[in-house]
Amino acid sequence: MKKIILTGFMGVGKSTVAKCLAFILKCEKLDLDDFIEESEKRLIADILKNDGESRFREIETENLRKVLAETNVQILALGGGTWTMERNRELIRQNECVVVWLESTFEHCWRNIVTSKYKQRPLAKNRETAEKLFTERQKVYCLADWHFVMKAELTSFAIAKQIAEEVF
Ligand code: S3P
Repeated sequence: MKKIILTGFMGVGKSTVAKCLAFILKCEKLDLDDFIEESEKRLIADILKNDGESRFREIETENLRKVLAETNVQILALGGGTWTMERNRELIRQNECVVVWLESTFEHCWRNIVTSKYKQRPLAKNRETAEKLFTERQKVYCLADWHFVMKAELTSFAIAKQIAEEVF
């Protein structure tokens, strides 16, 4: 089975869909952000605030390389910016992966960003900045192999079921 890589904007629901997919396909899943925080022993928000985005992106690429080379996870939820880096897309292409873009409206993502209790997102510190980033990234997200639209009437489990049925 090829690895399933989930990409999409902050707050779209990558982690929740990854969890549902892992349940449906009975396999292991991993959040790249969790893996980074564990190996760096600090929060991504702190890396971004203290070391800056460009250092964070280096750390992100190192950890993506490690996950792809050294783990057996079948489902990987990326951070919202991971797929936007050409070098990361190249790394993913070199591995047996299917990349799925979870698409949604900015409103859906923003609602989740502002209500998220557990995750700080310094790159989406206000609506204007986040919306600009959202718009800029659409052209890169659409380079994914598959594209699923997160609709309000569909649960994360229903989307995961669609992915499991259509991608395999
Ligand atoms: C980022 C998204 C975050 C996290 C970091 C940067 C981005 O992950 O990796 O704050 O550049 O979009 P989520 O997409 O899980 O929020």
